[in-house]
Amino acid sequence: MEFYLGVNMDKDKKVAIVTGANSGVGFEVTKGLLKKDFHVVMACRNLEKANNAKEQILIDLPESNLEVMTIDLSDFESVKTFAREYKSKFQRLDILVNNAGILINKPKKNNPGIEMQFATNHLGHFLLTSLLIELMPDSKTSRVVSLGSLAHKKSEIFFDDINCDLQTKWDTPYAQSKLACLMFADELQRKLKSAGKKIISVSAHPGGTDSGLFEHMPPILMSILRYTFVPIFLHSTENAAKPILKAALDREANGGEYFGPTGLFEMKGSPGIAKRTKYSQREDVAGRLWNISEELIGSTFKLGAL
Ligand SMILES: NC(=O)c1ccc[n+]([C@@H]2O[C@H](COP(=O)([O-])OP(=O)(O)OC[C@H]3O[C@@H](n4cnc5c(N)ncnc54)[C@H](OP(=O)(O)O)[C@@H]3O)[C@@H](O)[C@H]2O)c1
Repeated sequence: MEFYLGVNMDKDKKVAIVTGANSGVGFEVTKGLLKKDFHVVMACRNLEKANNAKEQILIDLPESNLEVMTIDLSDFESVKTFAREYKSKFQRLDILVNNAGILINKPKKNNPGIEMQFATNHLGHFLLTSLLIELMPDSKTSRVVSLGSLAHKKSEIFFDDINCDLQTKWDTPYAQSKLACLMFADELQRKLKSAGKKIISVSAHPGGTDSGLFEHMPPILMSILRYTFVPIFLHSTENAAKPILKAALDREANGGEYFGPTGLFEMKGSPGIAKRTKYSQREDVAGRLWNISEELIGSTFKLGAL
């Protein structure tokens, strides 16, 4: 046994990071991984919320190895600090669940002036993965899991308008960011494969669940949805987490696969292979996205270090 982060931990115990673990899908994914005996790091931006969530989990799963560490995915310096601190405490990373996400209805940019949803949902995770992947054992059970969405079907990557300044629909920036998460997962898988690595990159979407994600939707739209759409078409966050857990844990999963609920309108139901647009499978677009992502984070994704 070794002493990590104030917890006696078996050196060989598998470690997972879940970003945005304090609520919604990430909270349920964290519980799912703990039940499979992972040591889980909840990577969250709000310490108070994260510690409350941790306490809640420990009531049900008191024997769990569970840590909270802070990260703000929209702030690239914060992502780098998180990675540094993680590396000073842990020698391995088996599963990285890039779950955190925001959906906002008004234009907002992060500090370097990048559209907030693209920065948080895609670029922060792109940077985080690039900094931590070297800690992953070279095995098929080592996974990078990216969170897509049905919303990916509503967008393309606007290379000439990456901040979506010229887009007219309020939800296009979110859709673009989720498409980017999905295409990043594919491109990472292609790069891992050509580097001869066994680690796999997979993606999943939760269908629809009434989580904190919808807090920033136009309020009228949300009220209408809560009384009509939500009870009929959406499922619980516990069920919404299942495709993500399948991507993370299923030994039969292959690199590049995309999981989601297979029931009504893909909003709920048992997890399986999810449908996706032809555009989302374009390798030329994914390659270009990778390059622009490196430019925007200001560093290269060092696959060579693997
Ligand atoms: N709910 C759905 O129907 C649905 C559908 C498709 C895809 N998804 C995807 O599922 C994932 C989880 O969303 P959810 O539905 O569980 O929503 P949620 O309950 O709002 O959870 C999102 C999590 O991300 C965290 N987060 C937001 N911005 C962050 C930042 N800058 N740095 C670090 N953490 C940040 C939030 O932290 P705070 O608590 O501090 O805000 C929260 O923990 C997202 O990637 C979302 O796009 C959800």
